[in-house]
Amino acid sequence: MVLVTGGAGYIGSHTCISLIDAGYEIVVFDNFSNSSHEGIKRVEKIVGKKIALVEGDIRNRKDLQSVFDTYNIDSVVHFAGLKAVGESMQIPLQYYDNNVCGTVALCEVMQKNGCKKIVFSSSATVYGDPETVPIKEDFPLSATNPYGRNKLFIEKILRDVHRSDPTWKVIMLRYFNPAGAHISGTIGEDPDNIPNNLLPFIAQTAVGKREMLNIFGNDYDTPDGTGVRDYIHVVDLADGHVKALDKIDNFKEVMAINLGSGDGYSVFEIIHAFEKASGKQIPYNIVARRSGDIATCYADTAYAEDILGWSAKYNIDKMCEDVWRWQSKNPDGYN
Ligand code: NAD
Ligand code: UD1
Repeated sequence: MVLVTGGAGYIGSHTCISLIDAGYEIVVFDNFSNSSHEGIKRVEKIVGKKIALVEGDIRNRKDLQSVFDTYNIDSVVHFAGLKAVGESMQIPLQYYDNNVCGTVALCEVMQKNGCKKIVFSSSATVYGDPETVPIKEDFPLSATNPYGRNKLFIEKILRDVHRSDPTWKVIMLRYFNPAGAHISGTIGEDPDNIPNNLLPFIAQTAVGKREMLNIFGNDYDTPDGTGVRDYIHVVDLADGHVKALDKIDNFKEVMAINLGSGDGYSVFEIIHAFEKASGKQIPYNIVARRSGDIATCYADTAYAEDILGWSAKYNIDKMCEDVWRWQSKNPDGYN
């Protein structure tokens, strides 16, 4: 059985569907700090069966042990964590506690129970401001904020765990910019407050919840001056986790693998794609650059193709269509 920490969240919920479709049995473990029971109910509707669910915190070893006592856990897909960059600068200790200490607790309980396979949600943020693109896995790593340092530290911790006991199997998936929603339009990204990320903000603007999009700078060294990113459909991302689990036994070394589409799109290109998908106009304002932002970021995807036999299937138009279906059917998310 696969333990999915953070399985009620945005990427986790989509991955639960892909894992079940691929024949894996799963149990979700989540403290619902950034997700809702409604999301899980909708996943159950999509897959047509009940999902084993334990409410608990990864920092709580007792909560975790009870899952291992109840279920026969063979591997873990570890999504649980706090993920807002700005917030991580305001409350760094909570981020280190939740994300880093939480992962340490999880690995400890795994080790104690002889479960030594983990697929971890890392991020392209570990590349900092890369000197060139596309970004390859062996590029230098750095971080400019506590969230990024969380990811870097966890990657290092997992490498140390593996060094101490090479029977561990560790895959760290470095996501580029997850976007999109399930084709049913019943589950998707549901930010609590004002969205930090581009696509949820555009979607809320299109549906009338936000007045206009602030574009953070049009003076970058990019074709139209706005930031260029590698948007990856969340269903493609979910499929990448299935491939990682399918193959995890083959690897002796710790694997760090990019999950991106390999294509870069500017903010303007995303706005246009969303306008086409939704038939709505997105009013915008050009404002100052957001601190910590970089000009361009996209993945070299050759390693993921080679190692996992995985590549992105869905393009930006499909991502915008699916986000719009989700947002227009659920203007207030799961509420
Ligand atoms: P999300 O907030 O939707 O999901 C995270 C889930 O973890 C939530 O359901 C939350 O309730 C749960 N959680 C948080 N702390 C927990 C704890 N201590 N114990 C138990 N559950 C806990 O976020 P997401 O977008 O689905 O991201 C999943 C993972 O992917 C995160 O680790 C995130 O850092 C990483 N990631 C996300 C992005 C992105 O843009 N969404 C990009 C790169 C990496
Ligand atoms: C952000 C995080 C990064 C994380 C990534 C994926 C920051 C500083 N970085 O990166 O650590 O790994 O999400 O979750 O938060 N934009 C606007 N207006 C907006 C929102 C975004 O113009 O309201 C622009 C940004 O300047 C950027 C692009 O849109 O050029 C994408 O932004 P976003 O979705 O926040 O992702 P990242 O900046 O790549």
